[in-house]
Amino acid sequence: MSESRGNGKLIRIEVLRYRPEQDEEPFLQGYEVPFTDDMSVLQGLQYIKDWLDGTLSFRWSCRMAICGSCGMMIDGEPRLACKTFLRDFPAGSVRVEALAHFPIERDLVIRMDDFLAKLESIKPWIIPKEERSLAQGEYLQTPAQLDVYEQFSSCINCLLCYAACPQYGLNPDFVGPGIMALLHRYNADSRDGAAPERMEVAGSEAGVFNCTAVGYCSEVCPKHVDPANAVNQNKTRAAGDYFLRLVTPKGGAR
Ligand code: SF4
Ligand code: FES
Repeated sequence: MSESRGNGKLIRIEVLRYRPEQDEEPFLQGYEVPFTDDMSVLQGLQYIKDWLDGTLSFRWSCRMAICGSCGMMIDGEPRLACKTFLRDFPAGSVRVEALAHFPIERDLVIRMDDFLAKLESIKPWIIPKEERSLAQGEYLQTPAQLDVYEQFSSCINCLLCYAACPQYGLNPDFVGPGIMALLHRYNADSRDGAAPERMEVAGSEAGVFNCTAVGYCSEVCPKHVDPANAVNQNKTRAAGDYFLRLVTPKGGAR
C-alpha cells in the first residue's frame, strides 16, 4: 500500500486502544485514513499501522475470510475486518473495537485462552468408532453422510458468535455457540465414536441449556455455519440422554 492511496476520499477510523503497560483503561483514538472503494477495514488498519501509528496492534493473516483471526467489533457488530469494506460507512467514520466478551490483550487483540481450553475439552478430531487397517483403504463418506456435518465443518474459530452471544457475555463458563458447532461436526460424523464423551460437555452445567435461543450467533457467522442449529440439535440430544439415564439406573448406554 502506498501513502498516496485514496483518490481524495477520507474516513475517520476510531480505534479502541489499550496498551496495558501504559493505559489505565481502553480509550478511543481517531485516525484520518485515505481510502478507495476496494479497501477493507483491515486494510484501513494496516494503513494506520504502516503510515500513521506503528504501535497499533491487531491480528490478521489470510485477508480472505479463511483464517478467522481478524474478528472485531465494527460499529458495534462482530465482523471480520477483511470482509468489511470502508465504502460501507458513508457517514465518513467507523468505530473499531476488540471483540466483545473477551479480555483485551492489547488494542484489538483479545485473549483466547478460555475458548482454546473449551475447544480442547470437546476433542475436535475424529475418534474412530472402529479399528481400520490401512489395507481397508480410505474411510469414505457418502454425500448423504457428508451433508449431515459439512456445514459445521466450515467453522474458522473467528469467535464472532461469542461476541454476539448475550449468554456468553453473562456467563463466560458457557461453552458457547462455536464450540457447539464443532462438537456437532464430529458427533455427526459416521466415522466417529466419541459422541458420548462430548455429550458430557454439551449436557453439563456449562452446556447447551445456557442458550436462550437468541440466534444472533448464526446471523453474524461469516461462514454460514449456523451454530444456533448445532446448539438446538444438541439440546434435544442432551435432553434425550438425560431421560435415558433416568430409566437406566446404572448410568445406561446412549
Ligand atoms: S460458528 Fe461461525 S461465527 Fe462462530 S466461531 Fe465458527 S465461523 Fe466463527
Ligand atoms: S485475515 Fe483471515 S479471516 Fe480476516
